[in-house]
Amino acid sequence: MSSPALAIQLSEAEMRLLQTLVYQECGMYFDARRAHFLQDRLQRRLRECRVDSFYHYYRLLMSPEGRQELMKLVENLTVNETSFFRNKAQLELFHKGILEELITQKQESGNHQIRIWSAGCSTGQEPYTIAMLLADALAYHQLRMPASGEIEWPRPLISPPWRVEIPASDINYTVLRAAQEGIYNEHQMSSVDYSYRLRYFDKVGERYAIKKPIKELIHFDFHNLKTEFLPQKNDVIFCRNVMMYFDEAEQRRLLEKFYRCLSPGGYLLVGHAESLLGLTDKFVMVYKNSGTAYKRVEVSQ
Ligand SMILES: C[S@@+](CC[C@H](N)C(=O)[O-])C[C@H]1O[C@@H](n2cnc3c(N)ncnc32)[C@H](O)[C@@H]1O
Repeated sequence: MSSPALAIQLSEAEMRLLQTLVYQECGMYFDARRAHFLQDRLQRRLRECRVDSFYHYYRLLMSPEGRQELMKLVENLTVNETSFFRNKAQLELFHKGILEELITQKQESGNHQIRIWSAGCSTGQEPYTIAMLLADALAYHQLRMPASGEIEWPRPLISPPWRVEIPASDINYTVLRAAQEGIYNEHQMSSVDYSYRLRYFDKVGERYAIKKPIKELIHFDFHNLKTEFLPQKNDVIFCRNVMMYFDEAEQRRLLEKFYRCLSPGGYLLVGHAESLLGLTDKFVMVYKNSGTAYKRVEVSQ
């Protein structure tokens, strides 16, 4: 670590300029409470780029070659904290409520495609949790209502006619690479109980690797939630602990996009500290045993 004496001074006006640039790029908003974090990360980038003034760094960002550095800066500003089976009450509602409803509806309509998007997936624990819960829910459904005809052996993780897609996206390439690798240490596995470890992980040395059939359900990709080009036709969207870094205007814009990215009757799941209250009337809250979700409201013609 360099000493504070070597810190390059940023004026308030310079900070505001950077704040605006980051906000326009990715929607993250650094208010007075988080200005210190932004300042700290900026200092790091300036040192890393061996740039001796804010003026030169800003010029670099605005130049055609600066695109890569802007993405690096954004990566440095993201908070990537995550864990397997995060927010158990909400996952219980997802598993026992939303998935059961979805599977029953799909079975009745003859559409056996299920698509669940993890938006802001960080290092992958969220989409892998979704995949494990969904595989279990479908296996339980098929146990109760066995399909007629020949049973494939060994039984695939997802048996026909069901088809599962889990797009998982982030703005940070570093976390996406770790997510794609899908190997976790003991500390990261602390919230995974032994029955999930046994069924869905292989032990590789001291670490745990996600088994291939679970991995194959997930498609990791770069998506910036600030843009319009986002995965469509989802039955459920998980966007947990992402919106909290956006300001109210950006949250409203994002909710409009999520509404369009969901199939009719679809669900949006946000983080424990996040709420849609006062932001939109296009979703209605569903609540059970401390778990919450938001269901898309259908407007009658
Ligand atoms: C705190 S993590 C949450 C991870 C996971 N959803 C969970 O709740 O455990 C927030 C993630 O959102 C991503 N993120 C922030 N802004 C984004 C944007 N504009 N587009 C896409 N992802 C973004 C960050 O890179 C980070 O990995």
